[in-house]
Amino acid sequence: MPTQLFERSRGGENALLIQPHAGGPPAEGVLEEFAELARSAGADVVAMLTARIDKPNPSILIGSGKLDEVKAACEATGADLVLVNHALTPVQERNLEKALQRRVVDRTGLILDIFAQRARSHEGKLQVELAQLRHLATRLVRGWTHLERQRGGAIGLRGPGETQLETDRRLLQKRVEMLQKRLQKVEVQHTQMRRARVRSELPRVALVGYTNAGKSTLFNALTGAEAYAADQLFATLDPTVRRISVSPAASAKADATPPGGGVMLADTVGFVRDLPHALVAAFRSTLSEAREADLLLHVIDASDPLRDERSAQVDAVLHEIGAGGLPQLRVFNKIDRIEGAQPRCDTDGGACGAVWLSARDGLGLDLLREALGERLGLRRVAGLARLPTSAGRLRARLHALGAVRGEQHADDGWLLRIDLPLVEAARLAAQPDGAPLQPLLPATAPKHPVESPA
Ligand code: GTP
Repeated sequence: MPTQLFERSRGGENALLIQPHAGGPPAEGVLEEFAELARSAGADVVAMLTARIDKPNPSILIGSGKLDEVKAACEATGADLVLVNHALTPVQERNLEKALQRRVVDRTGLILDIFAQRARSHEGKLQVELAQLRHLATRLVRGWTHLERQRGGAIGLRGPGETQLETDRRLLQKRVEMLQKRLQKVEVQHTQMRRARVRSELPRVALVGYTNAGKSTLFNALTGAEAYAADQLFATLDPTVRRISVSPAASAKADATPPGGGVMLADTVGFVRDLPHALVAAFRSTLSEAREADLLLHVIDASDPLRDERSAQVDAVLHEIGAGGLPQLRVFNKIDRIEGAQPRCDTDGGACGAVWLSARDGLGLDLLREALGERLGLRRVAGLARLPTSAGRLRARLHALGAVRGEQHADDGWLLRIDLPLVEAARLAAQPDGAPLQPLLPATAPKHPVESPA
């Protein structure tokens, strides 16, 4: 980072959390996750309140009675910061700050703050600063005079922060333009690097998952690299890419050729419920690793009671960034936390669709490597298939897949020399006329896999 335009200060802060909700009580786990976000930003959570906002108050979001309650709770607990798990308009933020005489930060501001602490690469830092400036730009008009001098603390003020009193909009605009230019340059470099990887024709695999699911730990376990893994949210902000080799899948057939080559594996930023849109846009670079992958490894914390809901949130973000249609291999991580759980593969459509493992203890990594090879078509089946005349459709499909290396007429049909990915072979073998392919499948492949829509 060149000149540091804005001051950065650190420090633990006592935070009071407000969880607004409409209708029934807040969804399960929402409050705890919000508290986790607050702690990740370095805050000490001293109180949590919920607030019904069936009719959100345009000037302060919450009701005036609730505001009094928040004020009293701030006094009683010594909270010097109020975090609201909702988007606040600049007017609401200002009014709340005025009334509470404390800094108020909304969900976007909080996540931005965490991102500001985590960004390590040049590009990541530029992206965070740009997103922060844009967030700030909407709030600059107000000035910050309505707040008395803050005692210590920094959440929501990290990055473009306290010195903004001296910052006029022209300066801000200049900085935004400069950051945009720099980012464009870095993005061009990254696109070129990605192109080079595409040219190398190595399949690309991206780790995606809810924050804290264990992506970086798995990345480290598979690559032997040291991507940063920590029990805090969004430890991974910048994409890291490494080449890994997919271990030869043990095959029962002598004529099943072993897979070859490597795979490019990318670690990406963790997803979270209601990821602010401005941030989705800001993290194009890390997200494009996901969008351009041949296969997504969706890491799920198997021991998390909310795992289904959270993996659905991840799917929703993937959809939003245009990666919803990509093939996924699910990885249920942290099985060491589930009593009696053993590494295993759940098959889906003839191939492994979910691997259960422990990245921390290195359990089940071989299964994952094997599944990766299989899903990427690296694990192949080759040999002679005897097709009766009635199997004309199967023969046509094999030709369409480019799997036929040679063909001979036989009295009762054809003799085909074929070579195709195991996944395809298993899929075809599972179809009503697929019996002639069954003898070619290795013993480890399911004999009657279910047809998958993918
Ligand atoms: P973000 O950067 O927030 O997206 O997190 P991440 O998905 O990269 O998670 P990370 O690898 O940083 O792991 C989060 C926490 O889970 C760390 O404390 C890890 O040590 C822990 N963890 C990861 N894998 C396992 C596992 O297999 N078992 C157990 N018990 N803990 C694990």
